Amino acid sequence: MTETAPQSAHPLAPAWLPAPADPDALAPLVWSSGVARDAAGELAVQGVPASVLAERFGTPVLVMDEDDFRARARAFREGFDAAFESLCGGADVYFAGKSMLTLSTARWAAEEGLRVDTASGGELAIALRAGVLPEHIGLHGNNKSAAELATALDAGVGRIIVDSVDELEFLAARAAERGQVAPVMLRVTPGVHAHTHDFIATAHEDQKFGLSLTPSATGRDGNEAGVAPAAVAVRTALQADSIRLLGLHCHIGSQIFEADGFGLAAERVLGFLAEVKDEHGVELPELDLGGGHGIAYTAVDEPRPAAEIADALADDVQKAVERLGLTCPRISIEPGRAISGPAGFTLYSVGVTKTVDVDAPDGGTASRRYVAVDGGMSDNPRPVLYDAEYTAALASRTSDAAPVLSRVVGKHCESGDILVRDVWLPEDVARGDLLAVPATGAYTHSMSSNYNALLRPAVVAVRDGEAREVVRRETLDDLLRREVDPQNPA
Ligand code: LLP
Repeated sequence: MTETAPQSAHPLAPAWLPAPADPDALAPLVWSSGVARDAAGELAVQGVPASVLAERFGTPVLVMDEDDFRARARAFREGFDAAFESLCGGADVYFAGKSMLTLSTARWAAEEGLRVDTASGGELAIALRAGVLPEHIGLHGNNKSAAELATALDAGVGRIIVDSVDELEFLAARAAERGQVAPVMLRVTPGVHAHTHDFIATAHEDQKFGLSLTPSATGRDGNEAGVAPAAVAVRTALQADSIRLLGLHCHIGSQIFEADGFGLAAERVLGFLAEVKDEHGVELPELDLGGGHGIAYTAVDEPRPAAEIADALADDVQKAVERLGLTCPRISIEPGRAISGPAGFTLYSVGVTKTVDVDAPDGGTASRRYVAVDGGMSDNPRPVLYDAEYTAALASRTSDAAPVLSRVVGKHCESGDILVRDVWLPEDVARGDLLAVPATGAYTHSMSSNYNALLRPAVVAVRDGEAREVVRRETLDDLLRREVDPQNPA
């Protein structure tokens, strides 16, 4: 086999990644609905070609297909409203801001009838500045500061999601001092281990989030031996005059495809609601089942449509409330990635390409092609952090060259600075080409850094075939702005 032939049996290719028959073809589901190749073969979003985007906004650039984002937001809202209509009068959908929060995305979500979930004072400030109604904002966080809680109370946010007995007591005291009543959801961990990366699975017990539903063995940190921390928190909240307990919250993790995890979590938390009813005689009116709905990053991922997720969950919730004799609480969910992720792609310029010889698992030698682009782990740390897989496509043109197993890397001083671990790209990809990495709308802009003093990319939105900057590219002045110059401290 020569190096240029399609190496379908390439010893370094993962089993799930066969050589494509047509490397110019855009894999279904990983691209936003507005992305297609135009007549000239360029990748275009709503008809705006990659070369025009690169020319106008520079690279790297995060391109958000606004129409696609809005359509996904609507699909969740309509799907959940329809599924829960007869059961509990509909459902509320909170866009998880942490996935991609800018003034624009917060506004898009709000205009599509979604609420916004924030995870810090900074996210709260962005949502408020975007004009999201305070009563439609939730504030999360496992260690909120007094200042963050005060801002949330002053703004009148609709819900503060409390994560521990410690925080509940802290919030109750802060609200009492201010003569206010804090609207609270208690985040519980139903002990469901989602099949996802350990760092993004959050409903098992051994992690920092939430209040366990399992009786505690110790009396430490507000726990009572033999009583579930969640039960202690409910009792404390119901007794505090400065707390209005709205209900319970759980979030089992992220990038989850299986329906059963969500259903099982709902069932367990509803079971706990029934215990609360027995013990305290109250039916808490709200239940949030979190986010975490998986998206397609590569051709092998099979995400479920929002309406299907909603129907399956409504079915599970209905069975549980009937079995437990509960009035169905108002259901809410918090999808982030499933709305923002597929709506975005990152456009990079190709610089250096090189081929290296690598020891193959079969004992022989194989070659791997490295394609270096003008961004990297600072604009998308997910491959490094979570071994996340992505794909990529030559965006500025099509090519007849044979596909070669390639690795797309960034320009940082780290050998782990990988953006796409394995992808088949045409052999003639070279300096000056544009490369697009799809499904980067979530957890890229929001997790970006200035590592190696790289400037963070612009975010561009495309709507009705018009592209505009919604976050401008960082400049060297931005980079230096926070520095106190020892030569010139004033
Ligand atoms: N609600 C809560 C309470 C959450 O903690 C999260 C995500 C979400 C909703 C939204 O989850 P989504 O639908 O976007 O999966 N940086 C990681 C993901 C961390 C998720 C943190 N919490 C990543 O890039 O995969």
